[in-house]
Amino acid sequence: MKYTFLSGLLLLSVSHLSASTPTDNWQRADLLLQQMTLEEKIGQMNQISNKSKLTGPVSERGFKSLVELVENGMAGSLLNVTDLQSIRTYQEAALRSRLGIPLIFGLDVIHGMRTISPIPLGEAASFDLEAIERSARWAATETAASGIHWTFAPMVDISTDARWGRVMEGAGEDPYYGAQVARARIRGFQGDDLSAPNTIMACCKHFAGYGAATSGKDYNSVDMSRGHFYNYYMPPYKAAAEAGVATFMNAFNDFDGIPCTGNTFLLQELLRGRWHYQGFVVSDWNSVEEMVPHGYAANRKEAAKAAANAGCDMEMCSLCYFDHLKELVESGEIPEQKIDEAVRRILYAKFELGLFDDPMRYCDTNRLRQTVLSSQIRAAARDMAKRSIVLLKNDNQTLPLSPKIKHIALIGPLCDSQLDMRGGWAAEGVVDSIVTLRRALTDRGYTIHYAEGYNAETGLESNTAQALQAACQSDAVIVAVGERARDSGEARSRGELNLPSGQQELVKKLVSTGKPVVVLVMGGRPLIFNDIKNHAPAILFTWWLGTEAGNALCDVLFGDYNPGAKLPMTFPAHMGQIPIYYYYKSTGRPADPNKPHTTRFIDIDNAPAYPFGYGLSYTTFTFSTPRLEKTMIAPGEKTCLRVTVTNTGKRSGEEVVQLYVRDRFASLTRPVKELRGFQKIMLSPGESRTVEFPIDQEQLGFYTNEGNFIVEPGDFDIMVGNSSDQLQTVSLTVSK
Ligand code: GLC
Repeated sequence: MKYTFLSGLLLLSVSHLSASTPTDNWQRADLLLQQMTLEEKIGQMNQISNKSKLTGPVSERGFKSLVELVENGMAGSLLNVTDLQSIRTYQEAALRSRLGIPLIFGLDVIHGMRTISPIPLGEAASFDLEAIERSARWAATETAASGIHWTFAPMVDISTDARWGRVMEGAGEDPYYGAQVARARIRGFQGDDLSAPNTIMACCKHFAGYGAATSGKDYNSVDMSRGHFYNYYMPPYKAAAEAGVATFMNAFNDFDGIPCTGNTFLLQELLRGRWHYQGFVVSDWNSVEEMVPHGYAANRKEAAKAAANAGCDMEMCSLCYFDHLKELVESGEIPEQKIDEAVRRILYAKFELGLFDDPMRYCDTNRLRQTVLSSQIRAAARDMAKRSIVLLKNDNQTLPLSPKIKHIALIGPLCDSQLDMRGGWAAEGVVDSIVTLRRALTDRGYTIHYAEGYNAETGLESNTAQALQAACQSDAVIVAVGERARDSGEARSRGELNLPSGQQELVKKLVSTGKPVVVLVMGGRPLIFNDIKNHAPAILFTWWLGTEAGNALCDVLFGDYNPGAKLPMTFPAHMGQIPIYYYYKSTGRPADPNKPHTTRFIDIDNAPAYPFGYGLSYTTFTFSTPRLEKTMIAPGEKTCLRVTVTNTGKRSGEEVVQLYVRDRFASLTRPVKELRGFQKIMLSPGESRTVEFPIDQEQLGFYTNEGNFIVEPGDFDIMVGNSSDQLQTVSLTVSK
């Protein structure tokens, strides 16, 4: 009970200082701040990692005993501490410090804590914001039960470059959709009350523009115009700030030639100035210190000065604040007010989490035991997984497979790899709990004829004869190809996304047996597999589906669930097309394959393998001719578009109805189309439904180079359909 008494004492002393009992957590933070020494304030701005679970390079500047640092109030937060006993130990150490200020414990819970859901790019393919929110809430439930208060998610970085390994963590290429997903994930993680047992602080990362790393090389420089940033990269960050995300994280890259960690345009003008953001900003791993190798800070002291003055409130790992902030304040190079602003925001978060009321509120062993890997959370992971699977091809109605079949040839090591099913950034995902496809099929009583087919490491064919024999003995063939889970994620940029020829040759040989062949392509990013695309009768892109991968795959393979997902990123047909995205600009010489002097290559097509928003179903849908309520509106007026969608097949299914807009002529060149609305609807066989989209400022506007969102008079194409390349167009005019 000591700590309750202690925190009670703290609050007593705090309330003793105030004319009236503090009524909100900002006041509580202010009153506590008044009691703190400069060293204690700087301690709150210091975040240190558990040395046994590093998620980045160890800083040159090591540190002493973690418990000792915490007891002396020299750390405000720890990350990568994942067992309840250690969390309790460090928290008790914090409560022994002079003011007993509790620690915040952070971890990268990107798609699940111990029960793993699909990688975020896979979840984004569901185009189901409610499912995405539910998935984040279950992750928060398991995380909070595990003693962790803060996840470094959602990652909201837009990217059009699949060479960048971190596309797996985000929501793909589209700024409008990325903003919607950011809101959904933040709602899921944070709920309405950060002190609730099933919510945690979220963190919008990486601010800003990290997904535009030059040539897709991780950590590389980012260089874009302000207008490009405002229109295509900024929206998800802005949405996160407006959604009340508790924290932001700096990106590693430079922006306008200034590292994000010390970038006053991003941290002051945009975040604090225009968005009035009140949460705190944490650096990325060592990103304060890395302003030295960036060639921006001459040394670690200058790095500390630049970051603190710009408004980076908490330093992750590199200890520049720990080493230099005190002298910088005492010399007047950093006003103590800057320190106070940072610490006030950090203390506010701790009050919001309820850590002063009960520092051990998240350390409940019974709740941990009852929550982790519960049947409810597993069911939610399976539901999210089946909604993430994209049907790319289904010739001759190969899918769904008949449940009556008995013998299945199961080919490829990815059919039986628990570790790969987790994907990257899998937190404390329990490998042994993961259901592979082989396990799920066996559990369902199918006779499995397994063959490796290709070498898991090299991708070269291996024991082809055995694989072909397995096919001949079976009623159907399921073959899993792709990259390995370790091939995407942080520091996993790749210069070659074509699947190994061995994998593709093997698929062609399996198809030549004449048996029904279903290809599962697994990966954390768009991949290139043109031979498979051209030869296989049925293809599912399955990302990394997490703990319930095998069961979710069976749900789709045997038609218990009709796939309704769509691609959240364009899939290139050739490496040379990258970066590739659907919202390209017309240019002065619009692409024309029959004209040489147009925006095209001479040796490859412009067309992607699969476009943004593409995905099939086991049923079929038709769209009526879309209708605008008004085809002419005055500035500021709104209208709406209506389209009737009909399920013309024999089974129920979901369709993602997509709305795109083109501003034909504007003061800035605009893309040929931009997603500005979507609705996922379920229709029974023969059922029709009229879907209505508002056409308002949000749909018609764009950002100027000065960052002002405007709608200009003129002609617009309003497009609707079920993929970015399957659209019908109606015209709208906004009058002067
Ligand atoms: C990593 C990542 C960041 C993560 C942090 C803590 O380097 O860039 O996304 O949250 O460090 O693990």
